Amino acid sequence: MDSFDRRISYLRLSVTDRCDFRCQYCMAETMEFLPRTQVLTIEELVRTARLFTELGVRKIRVTGGEPLIRRGVDELFTGLGNLPGLETLALTTNGSQLAAQAPQLREAGVNSVNISLDSLDPSRFHAITRIGYLDAVMRGIDAAIAAGFERIRLNAVILEGLNRDEVLSLTRFAIDKNIHIAFIEEMPLGQVNVGGKALAYVSSDELKAELEQHFELHALNSQANAGPSRDFLIAGTRTEVGFISPHSHNFCAQCNRLRISAEGRLLMCLGNEESIDLRGLLRSGCSDEDIKTTIMDSLSIKPERHNFDRTDQPQIVRFMNATGG
Ligand code: GTP
Ligand code: 5AD
Ligand code: SF4
Repeated sequence: MDSFDRRISYLRLSVTDRCDFRCQYCMAETMEFLPRTQVLTIEELVRTARLFTELGVRKIRVTGGEPLIRRGVDELFTGLGNLPGLETLALTTNGSQLAAQAPQLREAGVNSVNISLDSLDPSRFHAITRIGYLDAVMRGIDAAIAAGFERIRLNAVILEGLNRDEVLSLTRFAIDKNIHIAFIEEMPLGQVNVGGKALAYVSSDELKAELEQHFELHALNSQANAGPSRDFLIAGTRTEVGFISPHSHNFCAQCNRLRISAEGRLLMCLGNEESIDLRGLLRSGCSDEDIKTTIMDSLSIKPERHNFDRTDQPQIVRFMNATGG
């Protein structure tokens, strides 16, 4: 496969910038969200996804904000699940709505679910998410397991002074549940190095070394998914542990991701501002062919590397919920 094909195989689609949590590392305590008219409609999202699958996208990961609080979410997943050519329909969620929605999502064709879980302690969980409740997420995780998704992974952003001491217990929890887990280095997408944030950063290598004192980790073939996660099988279990290291390991050269923000901007990279306004094209009566041509032309500006340098001033003033990671 040439590099052009590779770059159009995986699309991350943010379907809302809103969330029922306010995670400290993701968004400010008080956030202003996009006016609804500026967010792509369900119809526009499904059309966009169809155009990308026609161009060769085989995997779509639905992100947010929190996708499952988006109005019309059933219709959205049904539309995406019916797209010819799509091999993997994935979801990243905070888990708060999964207890109710997991069966319908599985039914619609969702294969893979990533669920954020930064703490097993209810009051700490509440502090990190500012307004989230751990018990709802725990019920969501169990509902996802019961629904039988092909792949379920927990996502934990680890910060010194916040939840650094839970790396082992979170890993054991994933092993007990027979699901996977990824530890994520915090990306300073909002305000960089404000309020001691830089000090809070913990490198993946440190976490990996800690886990290796307790488990044998076998490296898995990272070329297979070309994603940011470096995955290891925990010997004697069915659980994989992944390390996502935007700081300590720059993975852009292999990156096969395109992302669409909630307002319909096609972003070439999380680490810079290059984008095209798909919403404008969708709403100005452009034909499918015109839009596909613009998308193909824009791929030539996808950069080879980003630079989230911890000592730098902010390059990006954009919160995670707005870009969908
Ligand atoms: P896969 O689809 O299985 O590869 O999942 P994923 O790990 O990409 O998805 P998820 O939505 O769970 O994201 C986990 C973390 O990876 C989040 O913090 C994302 O922001 C981050 N992430 C995903 N893609 C990229 C990327 O291209 N660059 C960077 N720097 N981070 C990314
Ligand atoms: N840095 C790294 N990961 C983040 N996430 C949200 N904000 C950040 C950040 N600033 C993670 C959440 C969620 C995933 C989609 O992105 O943990 O699981
Ligand atoms: Fe919501 Fe996810 Fe951001 Fe937390 S990290 S506030 S759950 S979008």
